[in-house]
Amino acid sequence: MKEKVENLCSEIKGKMENVSNLNELYNLKLEYTGKKGIITELQSGIKDATDKKEYGIQLNILKTFFNDSYESKYNELNELELNKKLESEKIDVTLPSKRLREGSKHPMTRIQEELEDYFVSMGYDVFDGPEIETDENCFQKLNLPIGHPARDAQDTFYLENEYEKFLLRSQTSTSQVRVMEANKEKGPIRIICPGKVYRRDDDATHSHQFMQMEGLVIDENVSMADLKGTLEGFSKKLLGEKTEVRFRPSFFPFTEPSVEVDVTCFKCGGKGCPLCKQTGWIEVLGAGMVHPNVLRYCGYDPEKYQGFAFGTGLDRFAMFKFGITDIRTIYGNDIRFLNQFSRKDEENEIK
Ligand code: PHE
Repeated sequence: MKEKVENLCSEIKGKMENVSNLNELYNLKLEYTGKKGIITELQSGIKDATDKKEYGIQLNILKTFFNDSYESKYNELNELELNKKLESEKIDVTLPSKRLREGSKHPMTRIQEELEDYFVSMGYDVFDGPEIETDENCFQKLNLPIGHPARDAQDTFYLENEYEKFLLRSQTSTSQVRVMEANKEKGPIRIICPGKVYRRDDDATHSHQFMQMEGLVIDENVSMADLKGTLEGFSKKLLGEKTEVRFRPSFFPFTEPSVEVDVTCFKCGGKGCPLCKQTGWIEVLGAGMVHPNVLRYCGYDPEKYQGFAFGTGLDRFAMFKFGITDIRTIYGNDIRFLNQFSRKDEENEIK
């Protein structure tokens, strides 16, 4: 047996030397250790051996020899193949690369993020209300009962099935109702609610879908002066430090008193130009002190609490800021429009 094993070992050695690829190596493995392999057969011969112990020892020597030579050949071949592969896949790093088009944020996202940053830094929470609303939240609890003429200006889209009636919110003021009802006199409220709203409109300056941002502050000692200071701060941040704010009396059913807010035209600085129609002022939002009825409907005692609210069209800000002339392009998804808002532009923000 010893002699046999020695012969086999030298045979294996010789064959291993001639193996030149992994396939041949695999065949060799089959030849020796496969089902009908030489070593496998020797293994089953142990039962007929006269000196089983010696037979076993020799068999082990043979197996170890085969396995070791198999492994070292395997490693050798593997390395060889890897090197070959590396050689053939060499990359020329000096070749010019394919140009990747960078994406950019949508102008509305930019405006929204800028405003959120500002208000969050002032301690406000960002509230995200649903776009599908009830008539109560969109109108009735905001002091616009069924049949109120001021509803005309906010006609919207209605959804109904046999059980329920819903509508697409026409203003983010719905967030006032939702937040007040969720808090019910549990301390002060300070929120903004940016989001989509819908109306039955469609022309160059009105879209059936646009974006608003609501602001609501409720506390025990809130006055018009707080409202003015807040709006001044935010206009300066968005349109430049020199911006001034002017209040004009107005009407909203859910605020009393109500104001229309203008800012000095950021293009001409208030001297008068085509953008501000020679007036020096641009109207940017509606605001006012929360109407006692609204406080009452939403679970707040108007004797104890006051608040201010404002609502602004974010699209208008985007139009001013980026010089967009047709609001419908904002929602048209035309790549030629969107490509104009590259990252570079964002870095050099017109402030
Ligand atoms: N919701 C009003 C609108 O869409 C704007 C507004 C909000 C006015 C809050 C006053 C207070 O026109």
